[in-house]
Amino acid sequence: LVIVVDFGAQYGQLIARRVRDLHVYSEIVPCDITASEVAALAPAAIILSGGPASVYAEDAPSIDPDIFELGIPMLGFCYGQQIMAVTLGGTVGHTDAGEYGAASLTRRDEGASALYGETPVEQTVWMSHRDAVAEVPAGFAVTASTATCPVASMECAERRLYATQFHPEVRHTPHGDELLCNFLFGICGLEASWTMDSIIDDAVAAIRAQVGGDRVILGLSGGVDSSVVAALCAKAIGKQLTCVFINHGLLRKNEPEEVEEVFTKQFDVDFVHVHAEDRYAALLADVVEPEQKRRIIGSQFWKEFFAVAEDLAEGGRPVKYLAQGTIYPDIIESGARKTGGKASTIKSHHNLIPFPDGVSFDLIEPLDHFFKDEVRALGTALGLPDHIVHRQPFPGPGLAIRIIGTVTREKLEILKNADAIVREELDAYNARVFEETGDRNSERSVWQYFAVLPDVKSVGVMGDERTYGYPIVLRAVESSDAMTADWAKLPYEVLARVSGRIVAEVPGVNRVAYDITSKPPATIEWE
Ligand code: XMP
Repeated sequence: LVIVVDFGAQYGQLIARRVRDLHVYSEIVPCDITASEVAALAPAAIILSGGPASVYAEDAPSIDPDIFELGIPMLGFCYGQQIMAVTLGGTVGHTDAGEYGAASLTRRDEGASALYGETPVEQTVWMSHRDAVAEVPAGFAVTASTATCPVASMECAERRLYATQFHPEVRHTPHGDELLCNFLFGICGLEASWTMDSIIDDAVAAIRAQVGGDRVILGLSGGVDSSVVAALCAKAIGKQLTCVFINHGLLRKNEPEEVEEVFTKQFDVDFVHVHAEDRYAALLADVVEPEQKRRIIGSQFWKEFFAVAEDLAEGGRPVKYLAQGTIYPDIIESGARKTGGKASTIKSHHNLIPFPDGVSFDLIEPLDHFFKDEVRALGTALGLPDHIVHRQPFPGPGLAIRIIGTVTREKLEILKNADAIVREELDAYNARVFEETGDRNSERSVWQYFAVLPDVKSVGVMGDERTYGYPIVLRAVESSDAMTADWAKLPYEVLARVSGRIVAEVPGVNRVAYDITSKPPATIEWE
């Protein structure tokens, strides 16, 4: 285990990702962790992240000085270097201009630093700082500098304490990975043993140990997270897992069949397909207001779900555990877990789920240590098909919030067919971009795309006939986290194909519009 002490959220996550990419398991801990808590975790190495604060600012995060006495190798970046310096008796100064972006670094270690190893004497690094170390602590040597930063890195090799003012964790530092490797594998003597196979083996063993002979229930949505949890549990406990797939009739075309196919043919679990389409249709019959749609769909989900659990209990197969697809960023962002303790997370989740009186389950969250793309990699390694592993985000309330106004069977049919065309064409577009760039997250690829059915009709002409039909709105956005999004600058020929196909192939539609609004001010969904 390598722990990353986080002095400012996004910095820590990126470092943990880099370490994990090198096949060493890494976790993020908050900077108020104490030396005894660190000792209990017994990490093989500690990395101190960057952070936005100035070490001398009033509320600046500090670090328990006793952590430096544990004899564990440490590496600090940026704020991490400064905090190491001031904690151990050095000083930090405020520079006039700061240093932002690429900088030319010169090694001053005469080739002796194990951190720099075989890397060149002159190298480019990424800087982003205003403060810098002025005097290094006793016992430390300056190992590199730039034109504006005399202490670009420092070390006390004897105590295995290393630090850089620059950011080795970003791609703009070309030798950054090499420095990280030198630290992890050379200085700390770690092995690159955290591989997909070992991750799966460990997760399977942990699930078996936790569950024993009891029954686990899982709400399967067809999304990545719940599918990967299902696949992992299937490997661990097989038919002791009941996957509940609640079909509210608001999924995309062919989706229920695809999910059922995977979890009945490919994985050997107890699969329950709840056909709740009619019940949802009745509940939503006159509902227009988006938040009311969400509430109805959400609360009905749990009713259906608990009904299955009750049936299982009555049939002599009582459920002890609820498996959930909580992932690591959920845990970090909720601030729920400090150092390995999970109690508060469990509580918050339980608060969200409306358990009927007398019902409670223990939680199984096998993905709570993984980032989203690690979850996808796990899915692939477990044999889940690409359409699940790389599925784009799809809202829980499904197509109900993409049909403006009341949800009817006729509108659902139109939207499903139009949406299928949108997905087919934009899947193909994304595949072409992936082929050309080799990058699934290329700036040119589209992050989320779907059709929306507004509650208006307009006049058109097809053949010699006047038509009076619905428009379909194409929504396609680029984003990385859904918090902000930009409308996708799709090539005209792609737009033309989508439009041409929808009006030709979907009865009831005579017009296609493209939503060219970003978020903010719009949202990604229309409701
Ligand atoms: P908005 O529309 O708020 O959407 O820009 C941001 C992201 O969240 C998804 N979304 C939802 N997901 N239940 C969900 O599970 C919902 O009620 C919901 N509403 C929006 C949306 O698809 C987008 O990816």
